[in-house]
Amino acid sequence: TAGIRDFRPRIHFTPPSMWMNDPNGMVYVDGVYHLFYQKYPYSTGHGPIHWGHAVTKNLVHWEHKPIAIYPDELGSAFSGSCVYDRNNTSGYGTERHAPIIAIYTSHNNNTGLEQQSIAYSTDGGNHFEKSYLNPVIKNPGLSDFRDPKAFWNSKKECWSLVLAAYDRVQFYSSKDMKQWEKTGEFGLEENHASGVFECPNLFPVHVDDKVLWVLLLSMTTTVEDGKSRTQYFIGDFDGETFRCTYPSDEPLWIDFGFDNYAGVTFQNLDEPLFIGWAQNWEYSDRVPTGEFCSQMTLARKLSLKKIGDTYRLCGQPEGIRQFQAQAYRIENKTRIRSETFGMRIHGRGDAKLTLANSKNQEIIIEVNDDRIIVDRGKAGANDFDETFMTEQYSRATMTRLAPGEYDVELIFDVSLLELFADDGLEVCTMEMYPDTPYDRVIWEGNLQVEYYQIV
Ligand code: FRU
Repeated sequence: TAGIRDFRPRIHFTPPSMWMNDPNGMVYVDGVYHLFYQKYPYSTGHGPIHWGHAVTKNLVHWEHKPIAIYPDELGSAFSGSCVYDRNNTSGYGTERHAPIIAIYTSHNNNTGLEQQSIAYSTDGGNHFEKSYLNPVIKNPGLSDFRDPKAFWNSKKECWSLVLAAYDRVQFYSSKDMKQWEKTGEFGLEENHASGVFECPNLFPVHVDDKVLWVLLLSMTTTVEDGKSRTQYFIGDFDGETFRCTYPSDEPLWIDFGFDNYAGVTFQNLDEPLFIGWAQNWEYSDRVPTGEFCSQMTLARKLSLKKIGDTYRLCGQPEGIRQFQAQAYRIENKTRIRSETFGMRIHGRGDAKLTLANSKNQEIIIEVNDDRIIVDRGKAGANDFDETFMTEQYSRATMTRLAPGEYDVELIFDVSLLELFADDGLEVCTMEMYPDTPYDRVIWEGNLQVEYYQIV
C-alpha cells in the first residue's frame, strides 16, 4: 500500500528529500543546464520557500547543488528566473566571470506582500549574493504580483521580464537588471481560461520563416474546470507588450494530463526547452512518495506546427535519444522487466494498450483516429486523496489535431507517465502509484509496438 514502495522516478528530476514545486531560473551556461526550484527543506509540504539548485549536462543525470537562495527579511524566495549576463550589463560580474542574475519574488509570509528581488552569482551559480537594492520592483498595490521571467529583448536591446499580476501579466524592461520600468500589460480575453495567473513565460519561436511569440501562463484553479493547468497564447511581442494574434475558440493547453504545472523555458538557448513541475496543487502534499515530494517533467523541446490557418505548440522529450535508438519491436503480452522504459506505438483505427501489474492495477491508453484517452483510474494507490481517484482527475481525453494513422510515444518512469502523440501536438503527463511495478503490456487492435529500456 501507499508509501511502502520506492516511487522515485529515475530519469526525472526529484529533490534529494522533502518538498519541491516550480522549476525556477533555468539557464544554460558553458555547456551546463542549471535548474533551480522551489524548495522547502524541512517537510514534504510547502513552507517558507528557498531556491534549490541542480545541474546536468545531458538532461537526465542531475547533480544536486547546495541551496542557492534562502528566505530573508523580505520573505520567502518565490518563483522567478535567471539570465546569463554575458556583457555584464548589471556590473555584478568580475573581470573573469560574467554573472548569472536571478530575479525572483520576495513573498512576505506574514502580510503576503509580493515584490521582485535580485541576486547574482559569479561562480557559475554555486553561490548567490543578494542585491542591497532589493526589492527592485515594488508592489504597486496588488494582492498577487509574482514570478518574474526575464529574457533578452532583442527589439529594444535591453532586458525584459513578464510577471503575473493577478488576472493579467505585466511587462517591464531594464538596461541593467536593477532598475525596471513597466512597458505593458496583457489581460484576459474571451475564450481563455481564467483564474489567478502564475509563472508567465514569453519566448520567440521560429516557424515558417517568421518569428512568433508564445506566452505560457499557469493557473492554479481555472474558473472553467477548477484544475491547475498551463495555457498558452500565440502572438507578437513588439518589444513592450504581447498581443495574441492567433486567437482560438477554446483555451490552448500545453498538456492534457493533470500533472504538469508552472513550467517555463531555459534562458540562453536558441530554441525553447521546457521543464514543468510534474505535480498538481490539488493533491501534491498527500502523494505517497515518503521522504521526497514531487518530480519535474523531462526537458521538452517546444516548437510550433501549422494547423489549418493557425498554429499549435508541440512538445518533444529531450535527452533520451540514446535510449530511443535501442527501440525494438515487441509482441503483444510481452513481460516488462524494467520500471523505466519507453514505448512507441504505431497504428490506425480503434486500439487499446494496457500496462498492468500482478495486483490488477493498470494504465489504459485508448487510441483511435480522432482521440487519445489516458486513464489512471485503476493504475494504483489512490486512497491518499479524495480527488485523485475521481474521474475528473483520472481520465484525460485528447482530441487529435492530426487525425488518422497515429504515432504515440510513452515514457514511463516508476510513477510518472509522459505521452507524446502526433509529433508532440498532444502531450499528457500523469503520476500514478502502482503497488507493484507494471510487468506486462497488453493490447487490442492493430498496433506495432516498439520498446526501449531506459534504466
Ligand atoms: C506556482 C506558485 C507561484 C509561486 C510559487 C510559490 O506553483 O504558486 O506562483 O511563486 O508557486 O512556491
